[in-house]
Amino acid sequence: PNGLLADAFGRPLHDLRISVTDRCNFRCVYCMPKEVFDKDYAYLPHSALLNFEEIAHVARLFVAHGVEKIRLTGGEPLLRKNLERLIEQLRAIETPSGRPLDLTLTTNGSLLARKAQTLKDAGLDRVTVSLDAIDDAVFKRMNDVDFAVADVLTGIDAAHAAGLGPIKVNMVVKGGMNDDQILPMARHFKGTPAILRFIEYMDVGASNGWNMTEVVPSSEVVRRISAEMPLEAIGANYPGETAARWRYVDGGGEVGMISSVTQAFCRDCSRIRLSTEGKLYTCLFATRGHDLRELLRGGRTDEEMQTAIARLWRARDDRYSETRTVNTAGLSQRAESARKIEMSYIGG
Ligand code: GTP
Ligand code: 5AD
Ligand code: SF4
Ligand code: SF4
Repeated sequence: PNGLLADAFGRPLHDLRISVTDRCNFRCVYCMPKEVFDKDYAYLPHSALLNFEEIAHVARLFVAHGVEKIRLTGGEPLLRKNLERLIEQLRAIETPSGRPLDLTLTTNGSLLARKAQTLKDAGLDRVTVSLDAIDDAVFKRMNDVDFAVADVLTGIDAAHAAGLGPIKVNMVVKGGMNDDQILPMARHFKGTPAILRFIEYMDVGASNGWNMTEVVPSSEVVRRISAEMPLEAIGANYPGETAARWRYVDGGGEVGMISSVTQAFCRDCSRIRLSTEGKLYTCLFATRGHDLRELLRGGRTDEEMQTAIARLWRARDDRYSETRTVNTAGLSQRAESARKIEMSYIGG
């Protein structure tokens, strides 16, 4: 393997996102709507899941190919039993460059208060916590399982105390549902160590009934915040960063805007995703995965799997967010679109 793998558009492979479960204890309206994810929903059977040894094995193959950042996602990753054991195995992986792996996790925060310290002890660097409102009634409408804001805030505090910072807080803005929370959320996190990021509601999956009219463009979010608390744009931390960064002029910290609908960032996208059952997806909006589990369990050598990964990445020409049109809502009725994988299956 060489660390300079580039895809069809010259994009390097830098970031591996691993989904460790397709289950979640929330039913966020934009992700796992109750009508679809009900008691009859067919989750993956245990035998289909990659075990921790298999996941760590795959991670090592990717690190040899130049990956320096690994994010664990779900569903809700903290629902996977003994996740700390996986984190320990990932922490032990050495990169060819000698730089430490950036090891992080996206969580809804519900189990964070309980687990922050053991996650840190296992070697996790930082966490990103999803929180869609600071008002309890709005948040409960979003998560649809009656989960309280205060419990997520306790989780964020525990993560901070355990040294899992800088903590990022992700808020998906769904127009007409929680956009009245943009200012209250900004006010709440201004001046705290947490970095709040606003995410444009995306047409991922096929079950959330996405509609362009429910997308609040980031430019509008910036406008609303700036009117009360002036913001100025600042540069990216690294090429291909999902969020555009803004800082409060008065020194109150920074916020981020993730604008995958109105300002796509495919140009520098260096992310690959591994599903819970061991399929590789070269784009969040892919309709087809590449089965790595079959290779793993079929006794292929590391060299054969390295070659398969290199071939997949070199052929990659995904740029869905750049080619999506405002008519994608109509598209979701079409057969190909209906096969789009769910966010709860592949993780943010
Ligand atoms: P940092 O390492 O902290 O910069 O994290 P990140 O922004 O790479 O990851 P995070 O999981 O926090 O991403 C936040 C949100 O951005 C996700 O929940 C998605 O909604 C969106 N997102 C992340 N990656 C992609 C991507 O490759 N394509 C698109 N369209 N959206 C993405
Ligand atoms: N659009 C944008 N972000 C989404 N997420 C889930 N579904 C969507 C969507 N339709 C994000 C959540 C969470 C992460 C797991 O994925 O905000 O931060
Ligand atoms: Fe669960 Fe996150 Fe999806 Fe909400 S957005 S249902 S917390 S996986
Ligand atoms: Fe990357 Fe696909 Fe997202 Fe574009 S739409 S940034 S190619 S994952």
